[in-house]
Amino acid sequence: MSDGHNERENWGSRIGFILAASGSAIGLGNIWRFPYMVGMNGGAAFLVVYLLLVATIGATVMLGEFALGRRMRKAPVPAFWQASGTHTWTLVGWMGTIGGSFIILSYYAVIGGWTLKYIVASLQDLMPQAVEGQSRDVFNHFVGSPTEVIAYFLAFMAMTVGIVLGGIGKGIERACKVMMPLLFLIMLVLIARAVTLPGALQGLDFYLRPDFSKLTWPALLDALSQGFFSLSLGMGIMVTYASYIRDEEHLPSSVAYVVFYDSLAAFLAGLVIFPAVFSMGLEPTQGVGLTFIVLPGVFARMPHGEIFSALFFVLLFFAAITSSMSLFEVTVAHGMDDLKWSRRKSSLVMGVIITLLGLPSAASLSGSPKLWGMDFLSAMDFLSNHIILPLCAILTCIFVGWRFLDRAEDEISNHGTYRFKLLRAWAWIIRIVAPVAIGIVFYKGLF
Ligand code: PFF
Repeated sequence: MSDGHNERENWGSRIGFILAASGSAIGLGNIWRFPYMVGMNGGAAFLVVYLLLVATIGATVMLGEFALGRRMRKAPVPAFWQASGTHTWTLVGWMGTIGGSFIILSYYAVIGGWTLKYIVASLQDLMPQAVEGQSRDVFNHFVGSPTEVIAYFLAFMAMTVGIVLGGIGKGIERACKVMMPLLFLIMLVLIARAVTLPGALQGLDFYLRPDFSKLTWPALLDALSQGFFSLSLGMGIMVTYASYIRDEEHLPSSVAYVVFYDSLAAFLAGLVIFPAVFSMGLEPTQGVGLTFIVLPGVFARMPHGEIFSALFFVLLFFAAITSSMSLFEVTVAHGMDDLKWSRRKSSLVMGVIITLLGLPSAASLSGSPKLWGMDFLSAMDFLSNHIILPLCAILTCIFVGWRFLDRAEDEISNHGTYRFKLLRAWAWIIRIVAPVAIGIVFYKGLF
């Protein structure tokens, strides 16, 4: 079976690819999910373990996905098909495409729409309401109004489709080159504000001074699954993005950059949130409400709170849209590589299908529809993150480690041009350590 070196779009530059892959990795997962995970799992000790796991297992799996993607130069389904020649392994590509693109994007874009709403609301009347302690009511009222949620969801989807329609270099790469540096800049402004609030030190202490006695098994498992979600692994995304990397790029150093930026973004988000939450005497263990409910209350009590609040939600919006582009690119690439559609046709058809699938999630927070006893959005999140993502990640490791190893090693060393010192260690982690570790998370997550 021939490997897929065909005429194909490429990233315009190395930094363009790194920013786009970092844009995929840095998302709601870093800024909304990571801080509340740290908050619920005891603080600094969780942070240390998280960083260790991401740098070892996370980086290993990412390198495997990069090697597979660039070698085959195809979207996940045709990549697995051509690399294995069997329908069984092709199923893994399907899981990534359906689980990643269709399912995750359908609800991720709903939350992306919330960020748009909160930018607007910050500049309108969110602050006066939040200062009166009504931010929970504001949030519940908004998510309970299907028409408004759907309108913001449609706006967010339209932007995602519009950017991906522009293609790799002119669409995704250009958007990420502008948005990612801005994201870091906004984060630095917000950190400067947060750490100078009275009482901020207590937050820094919680976040930065580890107490390993607080570390539990469930916390360890949370750290690993958070790492996978945050690095966009196990969904065929990095396979797809890597299919556009030029031949001469060195894959391990690209992985190092993406892992570093992703971890930095998560770390910095904690530096915004914990000092602010502690300085207001609030609890860091609020769970999913930390961002949309607690933070407006924090901003409302600062001078010029509406500006900081709007900036924060712009940051969250950038993070969300650069990730949603990557989710969408997987299906669009599928339409082009497997169905031979043009980018335009694929973006429009897939955009309409995903939007239709997202409508029940957008409407579900007002009470219906429900699935497996959960609101539809949570059911989609559960299905993709607890079932499809870990399964797909384990199978990708097994495939790359046991069926594709020679080709992957050849790709990682750029056909013998580079010597990657950690190649042996990489091979054993992807063959044994990563699948076993993810297997434990999968089991624990379900039972
Ligand atoms: N990595 C993104 C985040 O941290 O928000 C979200 C994400 C994108 C998760 C793509 C999974 C995925 F396949």
